[in-house]
Amino acid sequence: MGILPPRTPEVLRRTASIYDRVRHVIPAAEWAVFADDVEEILRLKKERNAVILAHNYMRPEIFHGVADIGGDSLALAREAAKIDANIIVVAGVHFMAETAKLLNPSRTVLMPDMEAGCSLADSITAEDVKAMRARYPSVPVVTYVNTSAAVKAESDICCTSGNAKKIVESLGVPEVIMLPDEYLAQNVANETDVKIITWKGHCEVHERFTAADIALFREQNPGVVVLAHPECPTDVVAAADYAGSTAGMISWVGAHKPERAVLLTECSMSDNVAVTQPETEFVRPCQLCPHMKRITLANIRAALENMEHIVEIPDAVAAPARRAVERMIAVK
Ligand code: 13P
Ligand code: SF4
Repeated sequence: MGILPPRTPEVLRRTASIYDRVRHVIPAAEWAVFADDVEEILRLKKERNAVILAHNYMRPEIFHGVADIGGDSLALAREAAKIDANIIVVAGVHFMAETAKLLNPSRTVLMPDMEAGCSLADSITAEDVKAMRARYPSVPVVTYVNTSAAVKAESDICCTSGNAKKIVESLGVPEVIMLPDEYLAQNVANETDVKIITWKGHCEVHERFTAADIALFREQNPGVVVLAHPECPTDVVAAADYAGSTAGMISWVGAHKPERAVLLTECSMSDNVAVTQPETEFVRPCQLCPHMKRITLANIRAALENMEHIVEIPDAVAAPARRAVERMIAVK
C-alpha cells in the first residue's frame, strides 16, 4: 500500500498532540502525508495486540509517532525479551528482528521489509566463523549482534556497541576473536589489555567518516562537540570528544547539554535526539543507512494489516544463537 493522504482534516486534528512533539523536525506539509498512516498504525496496534520496537535510526515519524519502545540494539534486545504482546513489529534491520525472535520465541515477530539488511551482517557467514575457530582453536568468539542468527549460533557470546568492552573482559581470557566489525574490534582493543583478533567487516555508513571531516566540522562550527559511533575508524574515534553506542550518544547529550553537537552516525539520529534535546543545535552531516531507510510508515502499516513478514529461525540455529545472546544479556 502507498502512503495515502489524510482521510479528512479530522485526522490531523486527532494526531495533533503527536505532531506537537515532532513539529520542529517534521514540516507540517509532510505530517499531512504521514498522519493517516500514523493513526491507522496506532489503531492496528491495539486491534492486533502489537508492540513496535524502533531503533534510534528510524525516521522521526516512526520513532516518535508510532513506536512503543525505542533504543539502541542492546536496549531493543533487552526489551524484546520482556514483551508479552502477541506481536512484535521491528522497525529496524533484519538482525534486530532475529534477535527479538530469539529472545521471545513464542511471539510473532514481523519485519516490515525483509530486505532491510546490514553490511556488517553481510560480511560474514557461519562457515567463516568455523574457519576462524579452526585457525585459532580455543580462542573464544565474541560476535557483534549485527550478524545473522546462523553466525551467532557459531559464537560463544554476543556483544553490542554499548557493551563490547565489558563483554570481552567478562570472559577472563587473554585473547578473543571479535567478529565481524574490524573498527569496533580495534576501538575496543584500544581500551583493553585483551588481545583482539579481528575480521574485515565494516559498516557502510560509519566507515565513510574521516578525521578530516571532524577537523572541518570543528573549523566551521566553533565549539562543536563531536560524538562518534564505535563502528567509525579508530582515527575518527580518537579525534572525537566521545564515542559510544547510539544510546550512549543520546545519554551524553542529555547529561552535558552541549550548545552544538555533531553525531557521527546515521542521519535520523540527530532528528530523533533534537526532539528530546531542543537546547542543542545539531550539525547534520547526512549519512543514510539504506537498510534502515527501507522501513517506512507505509510498510509498518502493511505489516500489521497483512501480518507480514514473519521472522522464523530454524530450531537447530535458534538454540545456540539464543545461548550466545542470552549469555551477553546476563553480563552485568
Ligand atoms: P547501536 O547498537 O549503537 O544502536 O548500533 C546499531 C547499528 O546498527 C549501528 O550502526
Ligand atoms: Fe548495519 Fe551500518 Fe546500517 Fe547499522 S548503520 S544497520 S551497522 S549498515
